[in-house]
Amino acid sequence: MEKYIANALRYENGMQYERCGRSGVLLPKVSLGFWHNFGGNDPYERSKEITRYAFDHGITHFDLANNYGPPYGSAEETLGMLMEEDFRPYRDELFISTKAGYDMWPGPYGNWGSRKYLLASLDQSLRRMHLDYVDLFYSHRFDPATPIDETLQALVDIVRAGKALYVGISRWPLEATRTAFRYLREHDVPCLIYQGKLNMLNREPQQEGILDLCRESGVGFISFSPLAQGLLTDRYLNGIPEDSRMSKGKFLRKDMLTEELIVQLRSWNAEAQAHGETLAEMALRWTLEQPGVTSVLVGASSTEQLQKNMKCLNPKI
Ligand SMILES: NC(=O)c1ccc[n+]([C@@H]2O[C@H](COP(=O)([O-])OP(=O)(O)OC[C@H]3O[C@@H](n4cnc5c(N)ncnc54)[C@H](OP(=O)(O)O)[C@@H]3O)[C@@H](O)[C@H]2O)c1
Repeated sequence: MEKYIANALRYENGMQYERCGRSGVLLPKVSLGFWHNFGGNDPYERSKEITRYAFDHGITHFDLANNYGPPYGSAEETLGMLMEEDFRPYRDELFISTKAGYDMWPGPYGNWGSRKYLLASLDQSLRRMHLDYVDLFYSHRFDPATPIDETLQALVDIVRAGKALYVGISRWPLEATRTAFRYLREHDVPCLIYQGKLNMLNREPQQEGILDLCRESGVGFISFSPLAQGLLTDRYLNGIPEDSRMSKGKFLRKDMLTEELIVQLRSWNAEAQAHGETLAEMALRWTLEQPGVTSVLVGASSTEQLQKNMKCLNPKI
């Protein structure tokens, strides 16, 4: 591929930016996740094309985790190669996050929420991504077996050490989230953002009170899997395509696609069409409209999908 020069109009291409809670940070309303499609088993040139398209259209936020791939770590390695080849000159225009919390390496120190694991994992992530620091580091899940102060103090110390500019938490239950927001604020490292799953098929963060707590606390909220891994698109309306996540992977199981769900998806699809939009656009717009939501974190297996998804902000994109 030819040498990359970012589109001079990247901030005039229709992207909108939203303040993340009560912080100084603006995030694009559509952010790009590296969970699928950026691993060592995926075509690198395609990952590169999607990432270039994203940045050229104002998507400044890329979200990763230590174990994204497969194999584990390989999505971060892909980002490391992209930094070397394309994005080094634009480092200060990018907001890059990673996480630790799920199984990453064997033995008692490669999982959950100990200080030992979180600090070692972030050092590994920085090496794989060829970065000196990340903009945002998350505890990827709450660890009920580790004292909560140990996990939270590790986050504070990571910021003090200059390895992350901000911290966030993902998938923490409500009471632990409340404790985390208070602890981090009292230690002068306020939680920037909560990452949770909110979409038209899953409203738990609203039902459990997470979104209200984020709003009251001045913490942003970013929705992962806002398309329910592709269910909230036209992908599965007429069967299961061979190249789809449901056919290939283990995270979107075929038994999730019940008759009842298909009826619901077709009905929403008809509603979207009646308004002159796609189901994906409608689903992303719905999530962005929920009070307290800062950004939707989409995945894409092609540039075309990403382009379609950005139309939720502006049909002309
Ligand atoms: N914190 C956490 O625990 C957690 C958990 C999950 C995800 N995340 C984050 O959230 C990000 C997004 O998650 P996700 O990939 O599940 O998001 P998603 O946007 O709900 O689903 C993305 C998938 O939907 C399909 N798709 C997307 N746009 C489409 C379109 N316009 N038309 C048809 N199909 C379309 C593609 O699947 P096909 O492969 O079938 O084309 C794509 O890979 C992840 O990368 C990660 O950064 C975080």
